[in-house]
Amino acid sequence: MKISSLLNKGKSILAGREKEAELLLAHLLKTHPHQLLLLKEKEISKEVERTFLEGISLLEKGVPLQYITGEVHFMNVKLKTEEGVFIPRPETELLVEKILEILPVDFEGKGLDIGGGTGCISIALLKERENLVMYSTDVNEKAVELMKINGKINGVSERFFPAKGDMLGPFKDMKFDFVVSNPPYIPYRRWHYLDERVKREGFLSLIGGREGTEFYKRLAKEVVDVLDDNGFIALEIGHDQGIRVKDILEREGFKVKIFRDFNNQDRVVIGWK
Ligand SMILES: C[S@@+](CC[C@H](N)C(=O)[O-])C[C@H]1O[C@@H](n2cnc3c(N)ncnc32)[C@H](O)[C@@H]1O
Repeated sequence: MKISSLLNKGKSILAGREKEAELLLAHLLKTHPHQLLLLKEKEISKEVERTFLEGISLLEKGVPLQYITGEVHFMNVKLKTEEGVFIPRPETELLVEKILEILPVDFEGKGLDIGGGTGCISIALLKERENLVMYSTDVNEKAVELMKINGKINGVSERFFPAKGDMLGPFKDMKFDFVVSNPPYIPYRRWHYLDERVKREGFLSLIGGREGTEFYKRLAKEVVDVLDDNGFIALEIGHDQGIRVKDILEREGFKVKIFRDFNNQDRVVIGWK
């Protein structure tokens, strides 16, 4: 079968989500989606045809594309991912950008990433600051394994130390220059309304307690002891949580600033000790 016919078949099954069919086929052919047009007359192997149609059927059933391809791109980094682990979002790039604005290019020091997921935040920072060392915790065993694999794939494993643990986990007796987290921040009552595809990322990845701000309250209290003097905490927040998270940090003595994302929504809060 020709590439163009196979692609059209996939697109018609996924009507309304044609882009996902293109991304899947480009992934299987190890090419860029823009190249598909140039390859449209090429005959495709039976094996790729079968794998593509299996993928289309999974997409139709609501499996996110990133879990089918097993990979995700975040800033300057390509990461492996698996069902049950949070898929990095473009909004989180702002959190990394704001930290990079604070850390000078020759920064030497340590950061702690709480709830690391695939390791996207830590690895993106490590790639940009070669004297930085990152530690990361996650309660999800699968996430910790992925962080280790992703550290190796991206050539930063000797400066990246993921470990299974609740909040500060095994690093609670250390001192850090900064703590970063994109924690679960959706209120519990919204779980039932979430898209089934999003739910596949796991309850613990998404739900931040009854109000959605419980994680920030715990974090604000616990990080005070691990932050060096002049240290800072950088947090991703839900678009309607800016003022509440600012209050939570100010109550623990932090000086706080809120930053907006590309949609002009509150997205990042940074607190200095
Ligand atoms: C919204 S995801 C963010 C993942 C990743 N940092 C990112 O930005 O893509 C939140 C992560 O926090 C982890 N998590 C939830 N509760 C935790 C806890 N008490 N301690 C450590 N990690 C936790 C989840 O397993 C999940 O990987």
